Amino acid sequence: MVHRMIWNQTAYFGPGAVDVVPDELTRRGFTKALVVSDQVLVDAGVTARVTDLLDAAGFPYEVFSDVAPNPPIENVQAGVAAFAAAGADVLVAVGGGSPQDTCKAVGIITANPEFADVRSLEGVAATRNPSVPIVAIPTTAGTASETTINYVITDTENQRKFVCVDPHDIPVLAVVDPQMMASAPRALKVATGLDALTHAIEGYVTAGAWELSDLFHLKAVQVIASSLQASADGDADAADRMALAQYVAGMGYSNVGLGLVHAMAHPLGAFYGAPHGVANGILLAPVMAFNAPATGEKYRDVAAAFGVDTSAMPLDEARAAAVGAVARLTADLGNPTRLRDVGATEGDLRALAEAAAADVCAGGNPRPASVDEIEELYRSIL
Ligand SMILES: NC(=O)c1ccc[n+]([C@@H]2O[C@H](COP(=O)([O-])OP(=O)(O)OC[C@H]3O[C@@H](n4cnc5c(N)ncnc54)[C@H](O)[C@@H]3O)[C@@H](O)[C@H]2O)c1
Ligand SMILES: [Fe+2]
Repeated sequence: MVHRMIWNQTAYFGPGAVDVVPDELTRRGFTKALVVSDQVLVDAGVTARVTDLLDAAGFPYEVFSDVAPNPPIENVQAGVAAFAAAGADVLVAVGGGSPQDTCKAVGIITANPEFADVRSLEGVAATRNPSVPIVAIPTTAGTASETTINYVITDTENQRKFVCVDPHDIPVLAVVDPQMMASAPRALKVATGLDALTHAIEGYVTAGAWELSDLFHLKAVQVIASSLQASADGDADAADRMALAQYVAGMGYSNVGLGLVHAMAHPLGAFYGAPHGVANGILLAPVMAFNAPATGEKYRDVAAAFGVDTSAMPLDEARAAAVGAVARLTADLGNPTRLRDVGATEGDLRALAEAAAADVCAGGNPRPASVDEIEELYRSIL
């Protein structure tokens, strides 16, 4: 069996890492950046943490901040126009998954204009050229978009969120600086941390998992299980660990895929604007329980990563312990536990299930799930 693994060429980690950005841009021969961020981050002064450095270094840039959470196609198209108008030669993403994903779509379309409609990028698109170079600076400890080959865009007209998978979009440089994430309010740290935990657990049991991806995912589960609560409560060391753990999860899942939690979370984003991490947090434990029969011994490892001694447990008990540990953490963190909490209604369940079954991530789920089974899963947590 041959496996392909794709990671950033270069990545920096740690408090203050963002200081390297001007030098890295200059050393690589770039002359002008389009900084892709969002208005909340601009208003909070987070984007300025980077643009102040560019100002001090005299490095030319313009800012594009027209990015909404669950970014729609229109944001991408406006970004493509802004990049062209700026005459820039590099993209600098400063934000959570939404600005980073928008940035990837902008970079891909600029280099492959035949995909300007955006929708045609869904799934594995046959782009010919690498994206305009991207420097990715995450401001949430969650998506790991800075080291994944994926981006997720929302088609508001058709009420769909679609995943694009394209090695051409991998950022040339990732700067994972926990100080860039420090201003995130508690609920955002919880939601994005649960997204990272979902990447780690889904990636660990996904159909394409193998020995190397297992190393990343299991380590990420361990660190997130012991750090997420403290990080959300403001502990700076725990926040440093979360910044790294979400990246480590990304090094795994980007290369091997995810599963039904993400497939079922995307329609909740498209239908109700549910924050991605909140949706994952609601779904993770119930989908883990559904998948349990198809996970071999792996939930024993997950439970152990949560500190449960599973060595003497029969397999069923160890699996239940893993699901229980995740459900407890989610409840302790105060994430919603019902779909109603994000606006779902009984009348939408069939359409949600059909959308989830058609999502790219569903293919990686360790246990095949029919539309009826997915609808029943949604109903059980309505
Ligand atoms: N590319 C991938 O591999 C990948 C993986 C998982 C999820 N995603 C996608 O990423 C998106 C979610 O990204 P996200 O969870 O990082 O959130 P986000 O980027 O949508 O941001 C959510 C809100 O938090 C604010 N925010 C972000 N950082 C902040 C900070 N440091 N301080 C204060 N406010 C801050 C933003 O301004 C925004 O209002 C979804 O569209 C999801 O589908 C992509
Ligand atoms: Fe995710």
